Amino acid sequence: MHTAATAIPIARAEGLYLYAADGTRYMDAISSWWVNLHGHAHPHIASAISAQAQVLDQIAFANFTHAPAMELSSRLLGVLPKNLSKIFYSDNGSTAVEIALKIALQYWSNRKIPRTKILSLKNGHHGETFGAMSAAGKTEFNRPFWNHLFPVESIDPPLTDLSLVQLQAALERGDVACFIFEPLIQGAGGMVMYPPQRLDRLIQLCKEYEVLTIADEVMTGFGRTGTLFACDQLQHKPDFLCLSKGLTGGYLSLGATLCTEDVFQAFLSDSLEQAFLHGHSYTANPLACASALASLDLLLDPSCTAQRELIAECHSDFCNAYRHHPRVKRLTSLGTILALEYHAPTSSYFHSLRPVLSRYFLSNGIFIRPLGNVLYILPPYCINREELRTIYDHIALTLEGDFLC
Ligand SMILES: Cc1ncc(COP(=O)(O)O)c(C=O)c1O
Repeated sequence: MHTAATAIPIARAEGLYLYAADGTRYMDAISSWWVNLHGHAHPHIASAISAQAQVLDQIAFANFTHAPAMELSSRLLGVLPKNLSKIFYSDNGSTAVEIALKIALQYWSNRKIPRTKILSLKNGHHGETFGAMSAAGKTEFNRPFWNHLFPVESIDPPLTDLSLVQLQAALERGDVACFIFEPLIQGAGGMVMYPPQRLDRLIQLCKEYEVLTIADEVMTGFGRTGTLFACDQLQHKPDFLCLSKGLTGGYLSLGATLCTEDVFQAFLSDSLEQAFLHGHSYTANPLACASALASLDLLLDPSCTAQRELIAECHSDFCNAYRHHPRVKRLTSLGTILALEYHAPTSSYFHSLRPVLSRYFLSNGIFIRPLGNVLYILPPYCINREELRTIYDHIALTLEGDFLC
């Protein structure tokens, strides 16, 4: 609290905008931490949650099931890669990842095959719980917990061929259980984008060595990267896919971990010990499922596809105009995500530009949260061309004069 700016009380939100108690309005240029897809207080989602609340609020998702979860499962399976056929619900992105890691480890344990190592990409982020933190490896974010993280081997992100060489060396040992990655873009690590072809080679190699692959689509899911899911841009599909954030359109907390029939079969047994003994109180909360169904209605509407295309096109035009600016180290976009890395001797989340940029944009009515000297825009799909232009104009101003000096 010593270093944080005073929190602004927000009274209401509508569409792209957050309205403070004093009447000031802010554009939500990062979709409230990447969760909001269609704008705030959308009537279709709000009424779906309200209707559900009057019928069935929350039940234990053990012994029982319910229509919103069943319908959501069938609709998700209809839009996700076809090799995924089972869903395990939880309640946030970190738990969706924990569950994938635990299922992957137990898969080998159930089959009595000694594969216990987890592989990941350096610079990754998979959440705040211990398994998710461990998967990311030792970073500046989790330094106080280094002694408590379990060992995970991390290879370079697939920006060069080095990652393939490192992966091959790790797989040769024969003890790797699974490989987890953020497909196409490492979000919290600085919005670092890499080509699908390189990831495809890594997944293909894992398949050759029968190592399970886990795509963490907690950030990339539901249209952020130009396709419905980042994995849609891959030839080789992962064995697990983790979802949360945009799953409910950003209204309620829900996590989902998808896996293949082969993984599911490794848990089918007459012995309870073979089962996956894991559950959260709010697993598959009916209100969250109703929200997710309403959000899917909106996401799959052609008008939403057109909006995502518009955002992608505007981002790409802005990148083309400013990519070679002397103060720009990296300016790239992937679908609806735009990232700008300012030149700095060392790039870091702790860079002094972070509070400077935050303050500047907030005082101009735009809510962003730079990752150190990396500024990114990840807006709700309801944003229009003029609103995007306003954001770009402010970004352009930060590149001029003595703003950064
Ligand atoms: C790729 C990725 N995985 C997992 C998480 C954790 O999600 P949650 O904050 O819902 O626990 C995040 C959060 O930013 C993320 O970006």
